[in-house]
Amino acid sequence: MTEEVISMEGRVENLLAAREKIKLGGGQARLDKQRAQGKLTARERVAALLDEGSFQEVGLFRRNRTTTFGMDKADMPAEGVVTGTGTVLGRPIHLASQDFTVMGGSAGETHSKKVVEMMMGALENGTPFVFVNDSGGARIQEGIDSLSGYGQVFYANVLLSGVVPQISIICGPCAGGAAYSPALTDFVIQTRKAHMFITGPSVIKQVTGEDVTQDALGGADTHQQISGVNHFVANDDAEAILIAQKLLSFLPQNNDEAPPIMETEAPVAYDPEIGAIVPVGGKQGYDMRDVIYRLVDDADFLEVQADYAKSIIVGFGRVNGRSVGIVANQPSVMAGVLDINSSDKGSRFVRTCNAFNVPIVTLVDVPGYMPGVAQEHGGIIRHGAKMLYAYSSATVPLITVVLRKAYGGAYLAMACRDLGADKVFAWPTAEIAVMGAEGAASIVFKREIDGADDPAAKREEKIAEYRDTFSTPFVAASRGLVDDIIDPGETRLKIANALELLAGKRKHRPAKKHGLGPV
Ligand code: HXC
Repeated sequence: MTEEVISMEGRVENLLAAREKIKLGGGQARLDKQRAQGKLTARERVAALLDEGSFQEVGLFRRNRTTTFGMDKADMPAEGVVTGTGTVLGRPIHLASQDFTVMGGSAGETHSKKVVEMMMGALENGTPFVFVNDSGGARIQEGIDSLSGYGQVFYANVLLSGVVPQISIICGPCAGGAAYSPALTDFVIQTRKAHMFITGPSVIKQVTGEDVTQDALGGADTHQQISGVNHFVANDDAEAILIAQKLLSFLPQNNDEAPPIMETEAPVAYDPEIGAIVPVGGKQGYDMRDVIYRLVDDADFLEVQADYAKSIIVGFGRVNGRSVGIVANQPSVMAGVLDINSSDKGSRFVRTCNAFNVPIVTLVDVPGYMPGVAQEHGGIIRHGAKMLYAYSSATVPLITVVLRKAYGGAYLAMACRDLGADKVFAWPTAEIAVMGAEGAASIVFKREIDGADDPAAKREEKIAEYRDTFSTPFVAASRGLVDDIIDPGETRLKIANALELLAGKRKHRPAKKHGLGPV
């Protein structure tokens, strides 16, 4: 009996059919269900993220080797995770996108191996890694093999950390230990249809008796406003993907490169209006974003953790085409004070910029570190120290502009000269002092004020005397702690100029295994 030989054409036809079948994931009904929830499918997310036609899939035909609980008979297209490479705005990335239609996107041994292979590809080839999460967590049927697989994802997350940008997009469930992979990455983008938690509502009910909904426990707004776990909230998958694309545009491919310089026609010119945003005198608030929008090209500012610890603003923009990370006090929220959470947020961002060679522009209007028992007991000393540590360790260009208040330890913490700022500019309204004039006068001249015929008048006189002496930028400039006192209208020009000048900055630190920064 002669065996029928299938022609090349026939084989290709079979291959294409097999591919198409696998690409249907968990089948039409499950795909429809996913779409009905207003979500994209795993493959649609990949297509939306990457430049058209650039996706090169890896591992479409991979299969797990598990035999327990009927896994040998289970249909597991692509092992429940779409992996491969492609380009975003012309630059290559490695990615993984969990397919919830295949056994809930659950992560078994081979599923995680596929993810890790992409991560190692990113590491070896110096490209960003993007992981789209939509999964019921460890694949229960595979027992500890799935745990082991996820352990390898965590390990790879840490290997990649600080070498290539890692972005997590959370589009569905991300529960239990699985939530620790995003936590190990640089940026977490969560959609309003996604939930992240270590223990879900039913377990919490059993253990603590508390009733809580998934949204309240681990929805996108919860993690944006309360926990600080995510960096961006998106209404849906498409918006999350746009954020990821934009974020990548500010970053280099890896820590050996500088961020890309964008062509721009945004004018770098004197700005006659910027100075009027900041009210003279210490008391009135204003929105620091109005200053930022005027400093960055085309008012284009990608704010990170916009609704968390809002007394500090962090985010990315460009000045004359060059990426900058902006760290700025927000005087309209608690007068721009540095507290536990804003120190965590600010220092983390400084470290992120430093890891990826993004120069930092620091805009200062800070009354101090937050006083109070709750802050002291919460460890403001430990948390506040993170700002000092982050800036002092930073070797990227540091450009600091003092707009108004810069008091005490918080002045030091906001990238002062002594912590390594390369350029420090002050507006004429800057008050660089050990503390506010009112507090200072009350302490230093207490006896004189108490003994005066008119203590209130004496107090005002002493406040004015202290302010005239110390609460100006001139003393700081005379000591070289400020390079120049500038007309606010010149600020964008000065920053653009400094960025050009500092583009080749090289700063070496003593060799060590790693520092012991406060955590
Ligand atoms: C295997 C799973 C699974 C899992 C879901 N599925 N999670 N299969 N392992 N972990 C399967 C379901 O059986 C179902 O299969 C399909 O995926 C869709 O799940 P549904 O429950 O129908 O979907 P939905 O109602 O949307 O609920 C989603 C869910 C729920 C909230 C994620 O499935 C769930 O609670 N899953 C278990 C979560 C969990 O406890 N995971 C382990 C945590 S331990 P069919 O065939 O019906 O379509 C852990 C340790 C950390 O994660 C290790 C790091 C990963």
